[in-house]
Amino acid sequence: MTPSAPVRFSPSVEDIQPDEAATIEGLNETFDTILETTAKDYGHAVRSVHAKAHGILEGTLRIEPNLPPELAQGLFAGPGEHKVFLRLSTNAGDILPDAISLPRGMALKILDVEGERLPGAKGTTQDFIMVNGPIFQARTAKDFHGSLKMLAKTTDKLEGTKTVMSTVLRGVNTALEAVGIESSTLQSMGGAPNVDPLGETYYSVTPFRYGDYIAKFSVAPISPDLTALTGTKIDASGRENAIRETVQAEMKGIEGVWELRVQLCRDLDKQPVEDPTVEWKEDEAPFQRVATITAAPQDSWAAAKVQAVDEEMRFSIWTGLAAHQPLGNINRARKAPYQHSADFRQRFNGCPMHEPSGSAKAGA
Ligand code: HEM
Repeated sequence: MTPSAPVRFSPSVEDIQPDEAATIEGLNETFDTILETTAKDYGHAVRSVHAKAHGILEGTLRIEPNLPPELAQGLFAGPGEHKVFLRLSTNAGDILPDAISLPRGMALKILDVEGERLPGAKGTTQDFIMVNGPIFQARTAKDFHGSLKMLAKTTDKLEGTKTVMSTVLRGVNTALEAVGIESSTLQSMGGAPNVDPLGETYYSVTPFRYGDYIAKFSVAPISPDLTALTGTKIDASGRENAIRETVQAEMKGIEGVWELRVQLCRDLDKQPVEDPTVEWKEDEAPFQRVATITAAPQDSWAAAKVQAVDEEMRFSIWTGLAAHQPLGNINRARKAPYQHSADFRQRFNGCPMHEPSGSAKAGA
């Protein structure tokens, strides 16, 4: 079956609600509880979610030559090569032992991108932020804020470990279960398999403007070294940073290649813009490759790279081109909290954030 023609972008594909500003203010207040508590505990500020990084990679993004007009849009309008940084993470707002198994995140920063910037976007990079599942559990930022508020209250309340945010992205039911239960129970819940982040496929979950069209983004492993790791479980018993150690050992010996692919919206009812709980089915809106990302063998936990990327950079879907404007209620609500969290880190740690360019050196 040939997929139908992609839907053209127009501002009317978004449906802005009157209470969005109030929700965003509430999100920032709740994130403050998390940020202040973890900063006090660690003596160092960390991201309010996806606090723990498992690996920092440096690589090259190569845009596919001869893309058809519907895919040759925005950053992908013409062939080119860009330096990239990748940050692999797990979604808790605390630095948890890896035995607590949670979904993975991948943040991607593409350097030296030309074109009109999103309002307030500093520097010349294009960021993409993804998780290893195709949908988000909250339909609106208000729903997300509901579970966030509840979890912020559990800060420091769980025995043996701090689990401010450890289950928030897994859904409200799990979040309810997490309140007041022991860490051993939490560990055995096994909500997400403890998979190797190098073998995973990542999804933007929410849609973006794709030049003249609308798309979701995804990064999938394609080199045999990476696909061999897909679904591989990491045994984290007794090893707090087992994932980081595993990724570091693996990346020393392999060249990782991923494809960056887009899923064009072809029917606004079946692939809605405002509801990221609805999966855009691949048979109706197939993924198509627009670029590859190659990471040569490297030390994925080199001190200089960790300092430059984990500490001194921030990733945000609102750092990028106007041609890739984040769309939908959840995406609109993300702009201020990402800035707020990064500002807090910058202030508390006395360490300015940088938007890198191609001349940036970030360790071995
Ligand atoms: C209203 C919804 C959301 C809010 C309020 C929110 C908030 C945040 C905040 C405050 C940070 C930390 C930023 C920093 O300190 O630099 C963050 C990071 C992150 N978020 Fe979200 N988020 C939301 C939705 C999502 C969604 C839908 C995804 C799925 C793709 C996602 C994936 C991530 C990832 C992977 C990171 C880590 C980025 C990094 O490595 O620096 N978030 N989020």
